[in-house]
Amino acid sequence: MKSIIILGSTGSIGTNTLDIVQRFPEEFQVVGLTAGGNVDKLETQIRLFKPKMVAVSTELSAATLRTRCAGLPVEILAGEDGIAQVATMPGAELVISGIVGAAGLVPTLAAIRSGKHIALANKEPMVMAGKLMQDEAHKHGVRIFPVDSEHSAIFQSLEGHRLEDVRRLILTASGGALWTLTKEQLHSVTPERALQHPNWKMGSKITIDSATLMNKGLEVVEARWLFGISESRIDVLVHRESIIHSLVEYEDRSMIAQLGLPDMRTPISYAMRYPERMPLDLPSLDLTEVGKLTFAKPDHDRFPCLNLGYESLRVGGTMPAAMNAANEVAVEAFLNSGLRFVEIADVIRSTMDAHTQREITGLDDALEADRWAREKAESLVHALPR
Ligand SMILES: NC(=O)c1ccc[n+]([C@@H]2O[C@H](COP(=O)([O-])OP(=O)(O)OC[C@H]3O[C@@H](n4cnc5c(N)ncnc54)[C@H](OP(=O)(O)O)[C@@H]3O)[C@@H](O)[C@H]2O)c1
Repeated sequence: MKSIIILGSTGSIGTNTLDIVQRFPEEFQVVGLTAGGNVDKLETQIRLFKPKMVAVSTELSAATLRTRCAGLPVEILAGEDGIAQVATMPGAELVISGIVGAAGLVPTLAAIRSGKHIALANKEPMVMAGKLMQDEAHKHGVRIFPVDSEHSAIFQSLEGHRLEDVRRLILTASGGALWTLTKEQLHSVTPERALQHPNWKMGSKITIDSATLMNKGLEVVEARWLFGISESRIDVLVHRESIIHSLVEYEDRSMIAQLGLPDMRTPISYAMRYPERMPLDLPSLDLTEVGKLTFAKPDHDRFPCLNLGYESLRVGGTMPAAMNAANEVAVEAFLNSGLRFVEIADVIRSTMDAHTQREITGLDDALEADRWAREKAESLVHALPR
């Protein structure tokens, strides 16, 4: 029986992970769960999966949960420290990192430092401090298994091959909800429209990132650190159907790809039971039904965020962390405070232009860049005319 901890258990990755646990109850034991503020969902999960320890973002949410779960054998903690305590609890083997955004960095790094293997969905920490995370994983004998479908596809396409034989990695991109719109139409896009992803059902932040193509920019940075391949050898290919999840081209010009219907339970389960595969009772991909697969080059004019990802890597140091923070602020402002869709890229661009990058020698450097860029991006958002 494998003991697991799920960070972000109430989100899309978290609930997909728990769906797998429910299908294989004899194989996984959930010992720790964390969430932000969704106390209702977490309470249901506590009753169903009986974790020993849980944590939520605020003391207020923790107090509510303690009242509701009085009498249950579960310890309920609060805040960043509480979440890190769950992430490092003794006895657990694997941590599913499924918090959204920079909030996942501290607990995911803490889990690595406590020697737990990581199934990594939460890409933002890899963007903020990829080298640090890999160095720490190496030092503590920890494996980081990719959960992001593209990185899982690359991971699977690399199996049994030599890294020296790789020519390039090709990340596929669905193009998101707005791929067919003109530049003019993008000016008047509402959050409701941008949240209509054609293939995947995900949390709102990553769905907006998919629409701007920032998600692919973040994934280029994530791939650079997960696979140790420089950005000049990472390409992006728009593939609307999300059937080919990504490809590896080798020196002999062979390409190896991983295909499947878009369902996160496949890459999550692969990370959970690596190297074995789980017999998931899901619909099979019927290629005759799909009929045809289409491919296109990314459009950097309509979707400038992808190039920002490449640029952040070329500058290096704290620049990816600054880019990530500015994106989080801009997406939040688009969803809740009237920032226009096309202004998301402007806010990130201007924050990056103003950022003086420094080397990342430890966690504090990444956190300080994150803090600085949030403040800068917020001031830029407030200065924009409404
Ligand atoms: N969803 C996918 O299919 C998918 C695919 C590939 C990669 N990813 C990556 O996986 C991560 C999670 O994505 P998602 O779609 O699952 O997001 P989501 O549905 O929004 O869920 C986010 C989770 O993080 C928790 N959370 C939010 N803010 C927090 C904070 N400040 N402190 C602690 N916990 C916090 C949420 O708790 P509450 O519910 O209580 O707010 C929730 O459990 C992202 O990095 C995303 O890029 C997701």
